[in-house]
Amino acid sequence: MNNNFNLDEKAIEKKVKLTGWVAKIRKLGDLIFFDLRNSGKIVQIVITSDKEKIYQIAKKITKEDVILVEGIVKKRKSINQKLATGVIEIIASNLKIISKANQLPFIIADQTDGLEPLRMRYRYLDFRRENIYQIIKFRSDFNMIIRNYFNRLGFLEIETPTITKLTFGGASEFKVLSKNHPGYQYGLAQSPQIYKQLLMYGGIEKYYQIAKCYRDEDLRKDRQLEFTQLDLEKAFTTKKEIKKIIEKLLVKLFNNLLKLDLKIPFQTLKYKQAIDNFGTDKPDLRYQGKIYNFNFLKERLKFNLNQQESLIAVFSPKLLNQSKINDYLLKIKQKTDFYFINFKNKKILDTNLQDAIKVDFLKLLKNNQDLILKKDQFSILIIKNKALIAKEIAGKLRVLIAKENKLINKEQFSFVWIEDFPLFYLLKDLKIGSMHNPFTIFKQNQLKKFLKIDIKSKKELLKLNSEAYDIVLNGVEIGGGAMRIIDPKIQTKIFQILDLNQQQIENDFAFLLEAQTYGVPHHGGIALGIDRLIALMLKIDSIKEVIAFPKSSKGTDEMMGAPTKKGDISNE
Ligand code: AMO
Repeated sequence: MNNNFNLDEKAIEKKVKLTGWVAKIRKLGDLIFFDLRNSGKIVQIVITSDKEKIYQIAKKITKEDVILVEGIVKKRKSINQKLATGVIEIIASNLKIISKANQLPFIIADQTDGLEPLRMRYRYLDFRRENIYQIIKFRSDFNMIIRNYFNRLGFLEIETPTITKLTFGGASEFKVLSKNHPGYQYGLAQSPQIYKQLLMYGGIEKYYQIAKCYRDEDLRKDRQLEFTQLDLEKAFTTKKEIKKIIEKLLVKLFNNLLKLDLKIPFQTLKYKQAIDNFGTDKPDLRYQGKIYNFNFLKERLKFNLNQQESLIAVFSPKLLNQSKINDYLLKIKQKTDFYFINFKNKKILDTNLQDAIKVDFLKLLKNNQDLILKKDQFSILIIKNKALIAKEIAGKLRVLIAKENKLINKEQFSFVWIEDFPLFYLLKDLKIGSMHNPFTIFKQNQLKKFLKIDIKSKKELLKLNSEAYDIVLNGVEIGGGAMRIIDPKIQTKIFQILDLNQQQIENDFAFLLEAQTYGVPHHGGIALGIDRLIALMLKIDSIKEVIAFPKSSKGTDEMMGAPTKKGDISNE
């Protein structure tokens, strides 16, 4: 049976056989009309009362029944411009009910009355909505473009295990039990990272995979327990080459799927530039405003700042006051000391920093390009806190103020690469942690420094930079990657810096260190978060909407009822 829902004028007078769901029913005198739906498409069916047998069947049909119709394609009297098949209709000659539908829990339409929890509980019904079907189809087309692109470049698609070894640093690894190994556990792969490195060691020069990854983390609108990466790795490569491969892929995806031409190469910011100018390593550059260092006020106003503290400013086109700023801070879940200075017609209107009157701000800010300063009125909001925290808070306020004042161009797609990350950072327990992962190499010119460095010298270690890079779209990290370590001595020293003892290194990584002794190419790669990228392309707020069967915000599967309590499983 052809079940062709792509019917147009060419099909007129042909006999067709269609199966699908009854989306709408209308009765008009002796006629009954059905909108028959399948795979996001609709065809109008007409039942005439002269065919008594099928007319009686049609009267019994209710919405969402699955039916089979045979009939002749006819030209419609009044064309429906909104439907792809709007010029034709089928005059039914045979009709069969395949499966009856009860009343559904929510309306099957783009504008539904079903709220998210209900839609997710009945996700299979949600797929019947045209807009959801289109998202699912978009994702399928997206994957096909990826596969075509990499196959053409000679990359091999290789699947790597997801049931794997629990390793150090795997705080967010899911643990898996097996009946064959009582007392032992596997881990679910957080990413194919080590496997893809081993593929490189094995002489597979170009690898890619659309890979499932699992992380037992707190969920957010751009985080799921189970998500998908486009993962790739290449031997004998450079950061420059990996960036180019990704940029060209993104050009293809945007061009084919959204009919948009991206301009490449994308801009690149160093990590420090991003933090200093935007207070984050995921800057949203759809809005040009920045955060500004106002430490010059220290001397002018005899501020009581300790050495670690800074004054970081952000500008608002709307005048601010104490309670508005408190509201802002509540929204971004931060507490801090702050000052504001409102300006009107180049004069200070009011402020909670009495001494501000003494400073000629406008003269000081004369060379500042921020467009807000050109307005008749504006406000300067100054955050006083430890340097990094002040920047982070100002960075969040920058985005919030831009959103509130509609300064962000929602049509824009703004990509930026971030590189020159620190290799390490200080964890909450003051131990040293890897900013990306422990397999990332430092910058080439830091080799001598690294070899000499004492593994306990945190101050020196924190000064090292890595050959890692992230790609950010509209303020969201959509990918990250790096050039890798290939020398077992360097790899061992990194593990020691991360406070692994000899036994832990042996247990967890002996296989990797051994593998690095058998001749390995230099290599690097990247992974893009497919769920995040698709959500951004479709301007959808939460990645849940672009995943066929997502977990709820609490990490539960409301449809199947997972996780289940230990002891409740019938076959346990
Ligand atoms: P990383 O951990 O940065 O790198 O992950 C790469 C990208 O995956 C996406 N992502 C997520 N998406 C949804 N839910 C999550 N919980 C989640 N966590 C991450 C992000 C992120 O940028 N092996 C390295 C890559 C490499 O070095 O080649 C890795 O996994 O978009």
